[in-house]
Amino acid sequence: MFGHPSIPLSSCYAPFVAATASPPKLRTPRHAAIVRVTHWITVLCFFALLITGGEIVISHPRFYWGEVGNVMTRPLFTIPIPSSRDTVPTGYHYVMPDQNGWSRALHFEAAWVVMIAGLAYALYGLFTGHFRRNLLPEKGDRSWSSFRRVFAKSFHRAPPGEPGAEAYNVLQRTAYIAVIFVLFPLVIWTGLAMSPAFTAAAPWSVILLGGRQTARTLHFFISWLLLLFVIVHVTMIVLAGFKTRMRAMITGRVVEPPPARRKTDRR
Ligand code: HEM
Repeated sequence: MFGHPSIPLSSCYAPFVAATASPPKLRTPRHAAIVRVTHWITVLCFFALLITGGEIVISHPRFYWGEVGNVMTRPLFTIPIPSSRDTVPTGYHYVMPDQNGWSRALHFEAAWVVMIAGLAYALYGLFTGHFRRNLLPEKGDRSWSSFRRVFAKSFHRAPPGEPGAEAYNVLQRTAYIAVIFVLFPLVIWTGLAMSPAFTAAAPWSVILLGGRQTARTLHFFISWLLLLFVIVHVTMIVLAGFKTRMRAMITGRVVEPPPARRKTDRR
């Protein structure tokens, strides 16, 4: 006997039997929790560092090479903007509002947070093989022709579920490896090389770079390269499918496309 005599049979099955089309399924996580958490902490810190770094530059928009740099020395180049300090010669007859206090404090706080997040991500990536498996370009892809093919293909929208849409292509992998192993370590090194407390403990960090002012100039250019990476990175995510990729980077999951209807399903 099926069901209880007082309960109509249909109400037991209602939500399940009525659904003939299979709903989209949530698959196993695409990005591990530690990758997602450290990624979004890095994004927050990056924007804090960018804004506060801009404020710090405004306090002295002249760049030098070597150890010494001040208003009495010849700059390597000058950014043609007014300064937030009236002692800095800029050619403008007014000074910008001084935002140095909070911006320096936030810059250093965000730098330590991003370093800790980066370290956790790097340890995870190295010890679990994530970098080797998912980020290092595959052997067959390490050629100019692969780069060119993927570059040309990047400019059309990848429909969700297209083969390979869930893995990183060779361009993304190269950009990620460059950011993780070259740009981020360099921006941290050049940043630490400007800190008298750090260089007192590790003088090699500034000597190897050729001086504190060289460290500052390199830090400035590497920050621009990081900003360029973020612009290209977000553009590629938009082209590959912003909603799907963002959902995966936030929740960790990808939605499986509904299975294609078999010939026998057609009426
Ligand atoms: C400082 C800025 C950023 C850095 C350094 C960065 C770095 C990275 C890295 C290294 C990955 C690969 C993670 C892995 O699988 O191990 C990644 C993936 C991703 N990032 Fe960023 N990112 C930045 C900013 C952003 C921003 C602003 C957005 C969105 C608005 C974003 C959205 C994503 C998404 C959706 C993925 C997954 C891509 C995919 O599935 O194809 N990122 N990012």
